[in-house]
Amino acid sequence: MTGDERRRGADDEPGPEPASDGLLDDLPETGRGTGAASAPESGRPSGRQRANPFHASPGGRRGGPRASADTPNVIPFRGHEEDRGREEDRDQAADRDRDQDRDGAREQSGPDASAATAPELPGDRDASGGPEAQAGTGGHRAAESARGHTPPADQQPSAPAERGGERESPAGAGAFESALANAAAQSPRARSRQAPAPMAPQYPPPSRSAAPEPAEPGGSAPAGGAAAGSPPVPEAPAGHGGAATGPPTPSEDDEPVNAHAAASFPEQPDDRADRPGEPSGARAQRPAPEQPPAAPAHEPAYEPARTEPDAHAYSDAEREAVYRAIRERRDVRMGFRTDPVPDEVLRRVLDAGHRAPSVGYSQPWDFIVVQDEDVRARVQKLVHAQRDAYARALPGARARAFSGLKVEAILDTPVNVVVTVDPTRGGRHTLGRHSQPQTAAYSTALAVENMWLAARAEGLGVGWVSFFEERDLAASLDLPPHLEVVAYMCIGYVDDFPPEPELALGGWAKGRPLHWAVHRENYGHRGLPGEAATSLLEETIAAIGPLNQRALKDAEERQAAMTKPPGSLGVLEEVSIRMSGLVGECPPPVPEPAAVAIFAGDHGVHAQGVTSWPQEVTTQMVHNFLDGGAVVNAFAEQAGAEVTIVDVGVAGDLPTVPGLLPRKVAPGTADFTRGPAMSRTQASYAVEAGIEVARDLVSAGNRCLITGDMGIANTTPSSALISVFTGADPADVTGRGTGADDAELEHKIDVVRRGLAANETDPSDPVGVLAAVGGLEHAALSGFILGAAAMRVPVVLDGVIAGAAALASAAIEPLSLNACFAGHRSTEPGHAAVLSHIGLRPLVDLEMRLGEGSGALLALPLLQGSVRALRNVATFDSAGVSERG
Ligand SMILES: Cc1cc2nc3c(=O)[nH]c(=O)nc-3n(C[C@H](O)[C@H](O)[C@H](O)COP(=O)(O)O)c2cc1C
Repeated sequence: MTGDERRRGADDEPGPEPASDGLLDDLPETGRGTGAASAPESGRPSGRQRANPFHASPGGRRGGPRASADTPNVIPFRGHEEDRGREEDRDQAADRDRDQDRDGAREQSGPDASAATAPELPGDRDASGGPEAQAGTGGHRAAESARGHTPPADQQPSAPAERGGERESPAGAGAFESALANAAAQSPRARSRQAPAPMAPQYPPPSRSAAPEPAEPGGSAPAGGAAAGSPPVPEAPAGHGGAATGPPTPSEDDEPVNAHAAASFPEQPDDRADRPGEPSGARAQRPAPEQPPAAPAHEPAYEPARTEPDAHAYSDAEREAVYRAIRERRDVRMGFRTDPVPDEVLRRVLDAGHRAPSVGYSQPWDFIVVQDEDVRARVQKLVHAQRDAYARALPGARARAFSGLKVEAILDTPVNVVVTVDPTRGGRHTLGRHSQPQTAAYSTALAVENMWLAARAEGLGVGWVSFFEERDLAASLDLPPHLEVVAYMCIGYVDDFPPEPELALGGWAKGRPLHWAVHRENYGHRGLPGEAATSLLEETIAAIGPLNQRALKDAEERQAAMTKPPGSLGVLEEVSIRMSGLVGECPPPVPEPAAVAIFAGDHGVHAQGVTSWPQEVTTQMVHNFLDGGAVVNAFAEQAGAEVTIVDVGVAGDLPTVPGLLPRKVAPGTADFTRGPAMSRTQASYAVEAGIEVARDLVSAGNRCLITGDMGIANTTPSSALISVFTGADPADVTGRGTGADDAELEHKIDVVRRGLAANETDPSDPVGVLAAVGGLEHAALSGFILGAAAMRVPVVLDGVIAGAAALASAAIEPLSLNACFAGHRSTEPGHAAVLSHIGLRPLVDLEMRLGEGSGALLALPLLQGSVRALRNVATFDSAGVSERG
């Protein structure tokens, strides 16, 4: 068995999995769920010990902090007012570029954007017979317009009058904003209330056609390949070894211990005469830079020499060596050899660290070389204690995956190096550190990276360990109190270097493609150099493709061949088949780990008395989620799912704590009976926030996303959204929410009608609709769904709030429905209207109406079970079972 094979998780290979009795096997009870670490035995939330806000007496319509006509509706998440003018100028220029580049962008951004997911071929969408084909024109037009045209300014909806001076900022939203505004450009001014045609996910399709294979979701660069945008380099030799130009150091068994060395590193690498790696005297052979002709006598005697811009670049081979070391540097924790690291090699590595850039040239690091086994054993004890504490806090599926991961190689390696920072080095006036004290630690991290790269070139594996309380480790190493530990590095020769990060090979996390991280001129204006810039929404829509037809067919055949009567798993068979088509393989991996994202926001329409719950309950419930005391926490623990809360628009202040993502676009929406709930920019930001949360959770290794929501009064905007997107009358899609009586329900219906009358809403302009009558959590949830679909990851929808958001996502890109699974049916009438409109069958129907993600979490084991059956159940052939005659 090779090192690579050892590292590959069992899940990589389709086929039977080890038998498991359940998601929570082998875990201590306290170790499950986000709040589990702090949850006391009694199940009551710990920490602040808040009372359950739902037990509080409603107390009428208490005026808690909320967005109102006189509350400035700020965008704390992105941008500053004072930057707007500058950004506007920049964006106008960018808009001009964009108009010129747009056609090219569709061509060019495609391959790169779609590197993350399935390539889309012309005609795929129509040929697929998928939701788009069935969805009528509204959604199709919206998706097309989001890709294509810039609307005339006068066709863009104006900002709400109540925004406290905020204006539409093309700068903030960039290409995203203008792309979304396109729907408005194409839509009739007068809102058509005709019901758009119902839509449905693509499976089962009316007719199937060949579809392209989806690319690896996440679209990371091929293993070991040069990152996009890196200069052309000669092809690297196969394998991880080779290309060693330095003399091998013989080991005891006469095998070169530095078999993985990429290039020799000179002991004194400051021979300026020759380029590193170049034979001595080569400089003389290099062609001299072209010199300008001698100046005539009447001109100034001196003219600076003109040289090619890259005259100082290394040779191709040298550059390849540099990029190779960067590409092939790995954090290594397994497969270390016992061979000692020769002193001169260790000195070269330390020298590389010492040459790192540092703030004010303060060189704030020190390196403590630790070889003593007792010291290392002491450190390892600290690390194991931290490892155990971390494992106890993990949700079930994560904890199982973590149990197979190695996080240190302290005693497996012959030498450890502790890298410390002295934050005071250089005295009071260290240049640059006066304004950014953290730059001392940054500098030290650069020293670590230099050492890591040098070690890779020497053929040495390095594992960075951070599982310790920094002060405990400092005490254990007897460090002077003014020094802090930045890194603990385990160093030694290895059998093999993993071709990709071990955490990626083990399925713990996925790499983010480069193009996710590159913005042009301002944040959110995306595109690699040399490509036309695009928006996150455009990029996301472009990556959403049809179901994979081959995988669908394989899954159908496998279902028919499984040792059970055909069709006996009912709806679960369809679910597993669609899962195969979505992921692009049969059988697909079990959709775990799963993560629920609870998007929280407040609503200006609360002022209309649509609920008797005070608005501050939204903030209080976020605390409750964080403390692990809500229903969603209990159900997440049961299902082994992670809970993340996203503040996309909560009126109250929230703490900065793990588990809460601060993405507040505004502290609540405005009252939509008096104008738009939010500006188009705000709605766009919220959609983007949802896409980014989906990306982050999938990059973190989740294979299933679950929608959650929290926002007092949010069934009212849900009804308005559903009315717009389905064409239903408000009376048919407005429900009792958190418990309205008959009179309150009548009032609520009237509020929805007034909201629709006060705003122009056109279903073919989905972001415009979200801005007019939606909530920030609705907008973010629609982005979350689009993000999941773009990465070909299933998203389990909760109740009516998620349903309303799914209508918006489907109107933006109908194929996004392929990724959606309806977790349950809520008792809210609007939810039934959603499900019939989008053609999704709920997996659970228990008369629930809580929200938070509770219904979807109950359905998660059904989704997982459908896939597990497809993977694990024997076929008639393999089990030697006779089929029905
Ligand atoms: C600051 C920092 C701390 C890290 N701490 C640990 C650790 O405690 N245990 C571990 O196994 N890996 C640790 N790593 C390694 C990362 O998991 C690793 O860099 C990442 O998975 C990417 O893999 P690669 O370095 O092979 O590209 C750490 C890395 C960094 C930069």
